[in-house]
Amino acid sequence: MSNSSQQMKAIILYDTRSAGGSTERFVDALGTSLAGTGAYVEKGKCKATADYSFVQDFDVVIMGAPVYYLLVSSELLGSLIQSNLKRYLRRKKVALFLTCGSPEPMAYMMYLPQLKIHLVRNKILAEKVFAPQQLSDEQAIDEFASTITQAYRKALKTRDSSLRWTDEAQEMLEQIPLFFRNRIKIAAEEYAEEMGYREITVDVIDEAKAELER
Ligand SMILES: Cc1cc2nc3c(=O)[nH]c(=O)nc-3n(C[C@H](O)[C@H](O)[C@H](O)COP(=O)(O)O)c2cc1C
Repeated sequence: MSNSSQQMKAIILYDTRSAGGSTERFVDALGTSLAGTGAYVEKGKCKATADYSFVQDFDVVIMGAPVYYLLVSSELLGSLIQSNLKRYLRRKKVALFLTCGSPEPMAYMMYLPQLKIHLVRNKILAEKVFAPQQLSDEQAIDEFASTITQAYRKALKTRDSSLRWTDEAQEMLEQIPLFFRNRIKIAAEEYAEEMGYREITVDVIDEAKAELER
């Protein structure tokens, strides 16, 4: 395992009703594959009543679960709805997976949005629906792990590049009273960097302002 300061610290938050079932085996294989790319990885089984403050210690949160009777498994959905997980996911880079038996288009249309609706402000590094036969397919798992790692590295790199302000965003900034202007400017730049945006638009300023007010 590498000790570089860029080492990605990832947590896999998952749920399943079957101890030792296909999802748990998949989570272990994904963890091993990520560790093989140099990442530090932990896993945790979701509980809707858990305290998720430990999520602060991780750079990337990988979330996933099986679909049972058309719904993403309830402790993961419950965590996003009832617990403080969403609060600690603020500005986190996330990756999503589902395990299910439905055809891919249906899963992307019906199941992934059940998670994504809670993550509209997050940078999603990767998302994948795994069919039953892919759950033990080393190549598919390695590909997913490497998509996450590469997207994470790319998001870090964009932090070094200079951010561009669109003319519209610049005009909007100039209309903000001087007292707040610098605060908003810094907040917008920090927010854009966190999210891996290269450009600050009016929407990015609005999002950054909303973050400040939360
Ligand atoms: C009771 C039950 C209900 C299921 N319902 C669905 C479903 O509605 N849609 C779907 O795509 N797959 C469904 N599946 C398939 C599972 O999502 C899939 O087999 C998954 O890999 C199971 O994970 P596990 O082994 O961790 O329980 C269902 C499986 C079970 C056992």
